Amino acid sequence: MGFFAKLFGKSTTEETVNVTKTAIVYYSSGGTNYQLAQWAKEAAEAAGSEVRLMKVAETAPQAAIDSTPSWKAHTEATKDVPVATGDDLEWADAIIFSVPTRFGNVASQVQSFFDTLGGHWFQGKLANKAVSAMSSAQNPHGGQEATILSLYTTMYHWGAIVAAPGFTDPVTFAAGGNPYGTSVTVGQDGKIADDEAAIKAAVAHQAKRTVQVGTVLKQLNA
Ligand SMILES: Cc1cc2nc3c(=O)[nH]c(=O)nc-3n(C[C@H](O)[C@H](O)[C@H](O)COP(=O)(O)O)c2cc1C
Repeated sequence: MGFFAKLFGKSTTEETVNVTKTAIVYYSSGGTNYQLAQWAKEAAEAAGSEVRLMKVAETAPQAAIDSTPSWKAHTEATKDVPVATGDDLEWADAIIFSVPTRFGNVASQVQSFFDTLGGHWFQGKLANKAVSAMSSAQNPHGGQEATILSLYTTMYHWGAIVAAPGFTDPVTFAAGGNPYGTSVTVGQDGKIADDEAAIKAAVAHQAKRTVQVGTVLKQLNA
C-alpha cells in the first residue's frame, strides 16, 4: 500500500479506483439460488466488475441437512464456495442477493447473516451501496415478491440504494414480470420450472443495472 493509501485509507491504483466491486451473496439448499447467483456473476463480470460470489453460512443442524438428499448433495457440491462476511459487503460497491422463499420470507440463514452485521451498520460501512435481490419459491405465487421486499426493508436500514430492475428492459416481462427482482418457480424435481433463457436474461439485466448504479455511487462516494 502506498503513502496516499496509508494516509487516506484508499489505494490510488487505477484498478482499485475505477473497477466497480460486486458482492454476490446467496443461500441455497437445492441449487436454484446458486444458479441465479452464478448467472449474476457472469453478467456482472461482463459489465466490467470485479466479483466475489459467496454463500451465507449454514445455520441448520447437520441432521436436518442429512435428512434431505438434495440439500446434502448441494451442501457437499458447494463446500468450497467462500462464506460471506461483513468485510466482503464493506468491500463491495454493489451487492446482489439471491435467497429462497421460506414461508413467504427470507431464509433464516440470510437473516442470521444480517444479524451479524450490526457493527458494520453502526460504523456506516454498509451505506450508499447499490443493492438488488432475487428469489425463488415452489409455487408461482408462493411469496417471491414478499421475500425480495422483506430483504429490501433491511437494505433501507443500511442506507443502501435499491437498484431493482423495475420494467427498465423487456426481458423482465419475459421472465414473469417481477419488477422487484428476478424470481423463479422451482418444480417438485428441484429444477427451475420457468423459461431458463428468459430468466438468465433477466438476471443479466438486473446484475448489469446493479453494477451500473454501483459505479455511479462509487464515484459519488469517492
Ligand atoms: C422451510 C421451507 C419453507 C418454504 N416456504 C415456501 C413458501 O412459503 N412458498 C413457496 O412457494 N415455497 C416455499 N418453499 C420452497 C422453497 O422456496 C424452494 O425449495 C426454494 O426456493 C428452492 O431454492 P434453492 O434450490 O436455492 O434452495 C419452502 C421450503 C422450505 C424448506
